[in-house]
Formats: sequence, C-alpha cells, structure tokens
Amino acid sequence: MNQIKIILYALLSTFLFQSCRPEHTVQPDDGIAQKVEALLSRMTLEEKVGQMNQYSSFYDVTGPAPSDGKLKLKYEHLKKGLVGSMLNVNGVKEVREFQKLAVENSRLGIPLIFGFDVIHGHKTLAPIPLAEAASWDLEAIRRSAEVAATEAAAMGINWTFAPMIDITRDARWGRVMEGSGEDPYLGTQIGVARVNGFQGNDLSSVHTLAACAKHLAGYGFSEAGKEYNTVDMSTSTLFNVVLPPFKAAVEEANVKTVMNAFNIMNGVPSTGNAFLQRDILKGRWGFDGFVISDWGSIKEIESHGMAANLKETAMIAANAGSDMDMESYAYVTHLADLVEEGLVSEDKIDEAVRRILTVKYELGLFDDPYKYCNEEREKELLYHPDHLEAVLDMARKSIVLLKNEGDLLPLKRDQKGIAVIGTLASDKNSPLGNWRLGSDNNTAVSVLEGLDTYCTYTYAKGADLSTGIEVFNQDLTINTSDKSGFKEAVTLAKNAEIVIMVLGEHGMMSGEARSRTQIDIPGVQQDLLEAVYEVNKNIVLVLMNGRPLAIPWAAEHIPAIVEAWQLGTQSGHAVADILFGRYNPSGKLPMSFPRSVGQCPIYYNYFRTGRPGPRNEVFFSRYIDEDRTPLYPFGYGLSYSKFDYSNLVIDDSDQKRIKVAVQVSNVSDTDGEEVVQLYINDKAASIVRPVKELKGFEKIALKAKTSQTVTFELTDKELGFYDPNGDYKVESGMFDVMVGTSSADGLTGSFQLK
Ligand code: NOJ
Repeated sequence: MNQIKIILYALLSTFLFQSCRPEHTVQPDDGIAQKVEALLSRMTLEEKVGQMNQYSSFYDVTGPAPSDGKLKLKYEHLKKGLVGSMLNVNGVKEVREFQKLAVENSRLGIPLIFGFDVIHGHKTLAPIPLAEAASWDLEAIRRSAEVAATEAAAMGINWTFAPMIDITRDARWGRVMEGSGEDPYLGTQIGVARVNGFQGNDLSSVHTLAACAKHLAGYGFSEAGKEYNTVDMSTSTLFNVVLPPFKAAVEEANVKTVMNAFNIMNGVPSTGNAFLQRDILKGRWGFDGFVISDWGSIKEIESHGMAANLKETAMIAANAGSDMDMESYAYVTHLADLVEEGLVSEDKIDEAVRRILTVKYELGLFDDPYKYCNEEREKELLYHPDHLEAVLDMARKSIVLLKNEGDLLPLKRDQKGIAVIGTLASDKNSPLGNWRLGSDNNTAVSVLEGLDTYCTYTYAKGADLSTGIEVFNQDLTINTSDKSGFKEAVTLAKNAEIVIMVLGEHGMMSGEARSRTQIDIPGVQQDLLEAVYEVNKNIVLVLMNGRPLAIPWAAEHIPAIVEAWQLGTQSGHAVADILFGRYNPSGKLPMSFPRSVGQCPIYYNYFRTGRPGPRNEVFFSRYIDEDRTPLYPFGYGLSYSKFDYSNLVIDDSDQKRIKVAVQVSNVSDTDGEEVVQLYINDKAASIVRPVKELKGFEKIALKAKTSQTVTFELTDKELGFYDPNGDYKVESGMFDVMVGTSSADGLTGSFQLK
C-alpha cells in the first residue's frame, strides 16, 4: 500500500512546477520541493491542518486502544490523518505502532515525525548543557550532540527539541542548566556546534535528528529569574544578545526547526509574535524549516490576555508564523474554520504545511516511514562503549576548578585517610541532571564508584538532601531539618587526613519550573560543611549543581573547590579523574557566580553606567552591602598547570583584519590546557556598548614549560553591533582589547578603527 502511495507521489510530482510556490517558501534539493507540492495539491484543508497538529504520547501501545475522552480523540485523529507529529513516544516498538496508526489508516498515509526532548543524551547521558558549555570545547560539544542523536534515532526518534540557545544571565532561573550561559558569542558557537552534532551532514541518515533552536525569543530573560515570567527588553539587547545564536543556528547550521517561547516579548506572546517569527526568522534570515509552538503556548495566548478564546489564539499564532501546535488543540479544532471565515489565509496554511512536509521528506520518512524503527540497531547502539567514552571525555572537560589553595589538588595516588561526606557522593540519579526524559534512573557512576578505582575511603552521607519522590513533574522535598547523620560524618572527618565533601543541588532542582530565590547550597548541607570544617580544614568541596551558586563562605574557608555540575552517566569517573590528576581541569565558567543572590542578574558584559566608580564617595553604581564583582567571573577556571600571558601585540595595519597576538606559557611542571579569551570594548559608539564583549577564544594544550603564540583576527563580524532597528553597523573609533585567562584578568591594549 505504501509503495503504491510513494509511486503515486513520484508520478504526480512530474506534472507540477515550482512556479506555484509563494514567497518565502522552502528551497530544498533533490526534487523534494516538487514532491511536497504534489502532495500538498492532493490534501484537503483538514488534512493540511492535521499536519500542523502535534500530540504527546497518550497510551500504552501494548494495551487496548483508548475508548473514551481525549485519548480516544487523539487516537481517532491519528487514524484520520489529523496529526502531523507526536512527541514523547519512546522506543522503536512504540514509534512503530504510532506510525502504523497514521500511515496505514489515514487517506494519504503521511508519516508522523517523532519529536522528543533529547537535551543532553538519550540513554547515555552527557553533562547538562551548562556544564558542557564550561568546556569551551566546540568539537567535544558537537560530538556529545552526535552521540545523543545516534541513540535517540536508534529509538525511533526523528527530531530533538534542542539545543536551547537562550542566553541566560539570572542564576535564579532553573533553565540556565539547559543553555550555554550568559554570553552571546560563546552561546552562538555552542549552538552551532550542537545543531551540527544533532543534524550531521545527512538528515536522512538513521543516526541523525532534526534539531530545534529554542526558545524564540527571550525566555532566558524572564523577569527576576521567575519561571514563565514576563520578558521586557530593549531592541538593542534583543538584537545583540538574544537573537545572534538563533541567527547563526539558521544561517550557519541550517537548523531545521525553531521553537517559540512561553514568554511575552515586549508585550506580545512570542507564540503570537509576527515580528519574531515572520519578519525576523522567516523574513530577514530566510529560515526554511518550521516553527513548533512550545507546549500549550498557543492556548496560553489567551492566558496572557491577548485573545478571548482558543479560536482567537489559533488565528493569532497561525498568522504570526507558528507552524505546528504542540498540545494546544487550537489548530486542529479551529484552523479550518478560520480559513473558511477568511481570518487565516489558505496560503499561510500551505506555507506551514510545505515547511513541515519538507523536513519529513528530508528525514527520509516518505521513503520508509519505519526507517528509524529497527530493534537490533536500538539494542546495539544504546549505551554503546563509544558513547560512554565520548561522554566521559565531555564530563572531564566540563569540570571547573574554582579554588586550589596550597595545591591541595590533585590528590596523590597513595593518599591515605580519605573520608568522603555528602549524600550526593553515593547518588546515582541526581548527577544525571534534569531533562533526561528518555534515560534510565540510577545509571550515573557515583562519585564513590569513581573513587573506588583510585583509593580506599570511609564514607558518611551526613544528611539527606531531599526526602521522597524525585521526578520531573513533581516538586522535591528538601531536607531542611534532619541533622541526625552529622555526628557520624564529623567523627569520620576528625579521624581523616583529607575530607572530600560532595554537596550541592539535586538534579531536579534546576530545569523547567525550578526557579529559586536562594541559590545557596540547599538544605542542611551548608551546616554540614561548617560542622565538618570545625574538625578538619583539609576539605575538597565537590559541588554538584545545575546553576551558578552563591557560596561566599565556602570560597573564603574551603581550600579546594571543584565545580562538577551534573555530569551525566560518567559523573563519578570524571570527578575521580580530576581529583587524582589523571585529567588536568580545563573548564571555564560560562556564567558568573554571584556573591549573593541579590546581585542577580550578574554578568560580565554589562553596559557602562554614568557612574561606574569606584569613587571616593557614595554616589556610584554599587550596593552598600556587597562587593560589585562576582565571586567567580565569567571565563574563570583554574588548572593544575600555571599559565603566564605576555607580549600582547596588536597589528592594525590591515584594518579589515586586525591581528591580536599573545604569548601563553605553561610555567608549571604539569601539561595542561588553557582557554585563551579575547574581549573588546568599543570605547565610544552611537549606542552604548558593553564594558567588555568576548570576541574570540582558543583552547590550547601546552606541555609543561612550553609557550605558544595565539593569534586572533578581528574583522567587521567581531567589531560591529546591531542598532535598535536590527541593522548591523561597524563604526570607526577606539577599541580596547583584553586577552587573558578570564573576563576579569588579562593583558590590555587598544587600536583605532579608521
Ligand atoms: C516545554 C519546554 O519549554 C520545551 O523546551 C520542551 O521542548 C517542551 N515542553 C516539550 O517537552
């Protein structure tokens, strides 16, 4: 039956011409455009609207078909061709069954596209994305996304809702764990690397996924870091900070889909925002993939107060360029009527469907709707040794050494008298982090298991971090009172030579709907840390967390601090490798760590104020009760090696390529890696520019006692900015340059752009 349909499409396509396509339509190769037109011409309005409808998985395919309510409706819709996509279907068996429902029952047999939140791995988990960003290693990040794609595709998935490329400056926001931190330059490069990793060179390969750049736009700027909150920002911030990663995902990485956002953007819900979706994304950038709404975000246009009912939300979203409706039921219920009533043009529907069908063709789903469904491949590829190796590499590279007083680290291989304290040390679940809907619980190597390969130790948990259920869709209960385990922990510490304390957030304390007003070490863990410190000051603090934490006490008192985030499946091995020096830490913070939550949002690339200070008086930009600097700045991270920067040379003789060279020397006896960072400041421009902007970085490996000259080139691409209309400008004038080891430490110089 399918064969006949495919032949039919092919025959029909030969009679149709591209000239009937409206403006801004897709331009794929391989005759796909003709095939799409042929199919489109055969579709009824209802069938077209069906392609724009996405449902979440809703029944166990091994059981009986749903017989009533919403589930029955979804089931019937699938059979009638009124569903274009499913999300949250996991596993070849389930995917095949859903695909069968659509392909074998509907009139045209159009295959479904299966989407899933494959955020940092599917079964084999890599570090959370924020941790990966700390590696500043674009190839490792690309590879990590490739591994995720391979496993998800082996489970029948075609499309991931990743990468999240929202720039995030406020550590209170739970979803900072899912992005690349505060910087648009770093975030752009990482976004491109991730899209390339997911999509590979061939979308029709059974090892790749269509990617989804999300969330357009500004979700990372939710006011006060509160989840789902309002976003109100200047066009300067929109064009210079928020949009660049999306632009690059479209123009450089050819991302196939974009997800809009829950938030309003300057008064208009992003999902109903024609400026973002039609003018910018599909217009200026020529995006030819499709836009998926966020979960229920079409119907939330009504909650925002911009529509009176579901029907109006459908009209607004469709007219604004949202091509597919995730679980709002708005399109499938109302879009056909809206077209009949002339409130949405059929051209707009055709345009959306054309985009969706094109991606399905590119994935090869029309050649074989079951091509991603192969149980043997699924079995062979999940937790494949190569994947475990790749995520271990990624995990090691993601760790940031925050403090190492007296070179307490690395530990000697024959180190005796080690006590390990903290419930997170034995936890095999929390280090997997949030956003791991396809994974298996308790599959992380715990820190204790990692240490087992290096040393003997005594262990006490000290206190529980959370009590009760720990799942994605429920709140955690944090232990804020039970200190009954402190005594045992303190006794162990008293008798130890060195104490490794593993403390931090539970993996379910960050991610969607996990905003916090306190970003300290939660529960009774800070008290535990101080109780242990009373008896033994020789502490290595291993932090696990999904956001920057405010840890002023630890930063002052604890001699060694290792930022280990949530590192995924290989967590414990990566941490142990760092503690014992098998891997020399090379990570750098992708987000500033504040001294206190009151400093949030805190980021290195802030605008100059009229009163930057410090002055010998009270009237300058500051707090009266807190330092103005972060505890640990963006770009910061130590190594077991020591690096020295010298000989900054700026050559501006070729004004189109200004060269900035610096000599970096490893002056220690330990081989190591350093991320050399270049920042600029446009001294006086037609609009105010940030005090510093990252415009180049290079991760280099330097053998002990060797040097290397690193050269950067600054072109129009790095030196310009977007004006408030979104037009790119490069202005002459003086620029300061800083090259160094973090955003707060480097050699400085300047040049003039004539
Ligand atoms: C809501 C989240 O905001 C989005 O990022 C995710 O992809 C969808 N839910 C689907 O799970």
